Amino acid sequence: MSKPQPKAESLAATISQNTAEISQYLAAQGLPELSFAPGALPVLDLPPHLQKARAELLDATAELHDLVTGPLSYLVGLVSPTHNILASIKFINQYQVASKIQADEEVSYEELAQRCNVQVDAIRRLLRLAIAFHIFRETSNGSVSHSAVSRCMLEMPLVNDWIGHFCDEVWPASPHTVDALMRWPNSEEPNETAFSLSQSSNPTLFGFLQGTPAKAERFTNAMKFLQAAPETGVSHLLKDLQWDTEPVPKRLVDIGGADGAITTAILRHFPTMTAVVQDLPNVIESNKVPHDLEGRLKLMSHDMFSPQPLLDADVYLLRSVLHDWSDKYCIRILRSIIPALKSGSKVILNEVCMPAPKVLSASQERLLRGYDLTMKQLFNSKERDAKEWESLFAAADTRFHIRRITCSPGSVLSVIEAVWTEGSTVTFEESL
Ligand SMILES: C[S@@+](CC[C@H](N)C(=O)[O-])C[C@H]1O[C@@H](n2cnc3c(N)ncnc32)[C@H](O)[C@@H]1O
Repeated sequence: MSKPQPKAESLAATISQNTAEISQYLAAQGLPELSFAPGALPVLDLPPHLQKARAELLDATAELHDLVTGPLSYLVGLVSPTHNILASIKFINQYQVASKIQADEEVSYEELAQRCNVQVDAIRRLLRLAIAFHIFRETSNGSVSHSAVSRCMLEMPLVNDWIGHFCDEVWPASPHTVDALMRWPNSEEPNETAFSLSQSSNPTLFGFLQGTPAKAERFTNAMKFLQAAPETGVSHLLKDLQWDTEPVPKRLVDIGGADGAITTAILRHFPTMTAVVQDLPNVIESNKVPHDLEGRLKLMSHDMFSPQPLLDADVYLLRSVLHDWSDKYCIRILRSIIPALKSGSKVILNEVCMPAPKVLSASQERLLRGYDLTMKQLFNSKERDAKEWESLFAAADTRFHIRRITCSPGSVLSVIEAVWTEGSTVTFEESL
């Protein structure tokens, strides 16, 4: 019997084969090769048949890297010094360093320090760490220029809003995770979290955002950025709603719908529908209905813990909303919709549905386990698995019946469709 191939060699073979597939595709399409050079593609948008090759490649390269590092160095490397890259990114974001260098410009550290109004020693040290992670480049004469990564910061304003929100509100909570667990074990309260320990002005994230309009606007933009990301993009939702093959609902209410971007995409895709987007007053006040949707889309201030006032919708959508709340509060949110439900009404969630450990690729697993911990740190909430979603609906009311959970390839969000199985006594009311 022949000896099995050593793990490292089999990973190298996987890497070689999948890299060749992707490179051949790029060459055949006349697309630039994979690179961090300034002209490189900011997003590697591969067709569905290459998604598997990409996932395998990401996992195999990460595993081979970790193996070759060796267990002890790997452990040490997880702890230090990679944590400092976030300090460097926060600096770049705060001083808008990317916008201080034009796309094709080379700038000395001295000149850049002047443009950013910071010390030259500080900017050199912080940027040199970033450069080691492909953010900016240093030329042979010691000037700074853009890389493909820093060009994203220059050309995509929403990514800066997401980075700013992450560095200012999410990241500072993380070191308080263990302290919060020790201080408030088993808490389901949004004001007893790692975030609460990291903030002096307001113990809850949404309370903090309501009191800080500029941060609230940045948060909405950060959500908009995530809506455009390949793994959380709205195209997956449009497919997983399955309304291209099933009857299209007439009226939709998007609860916690932020700026309405998701519902806007839904209405443009399904032109017979009308919708209302509900959110907190500070969010609704800063948004507008797009011209092409006037008469079909309405924005409405509504606290989702109060009884749902729109009684005639076919679908109540909550996208990335319930993962912000512990079970106790999710049950209240779901119950607040009940007065509006009639037999056959749907409550549709677009949320992570956590698979069991080791079902996902390693890179997906790391991403989703990270999301789950972030929910704990910010809200005392979590990313739920199918059983937890079922228990949640059952605890809210046994008349909710989960009809299906669907997740198209490449998406991290599932459509979880619950149907209300008994008529309510509430009368019809025109909502638009
Ligand atoms: C994570 S964001 C998701 C936004 C949007 N659904 C999306 O998918 O991009 C959660 C939203 O819930 C809203 N929200 C928080 N508390 C709320 C409340 N009590 N009533 C209504 N909306 C609320 C926030 O303002 C925010 O827009």
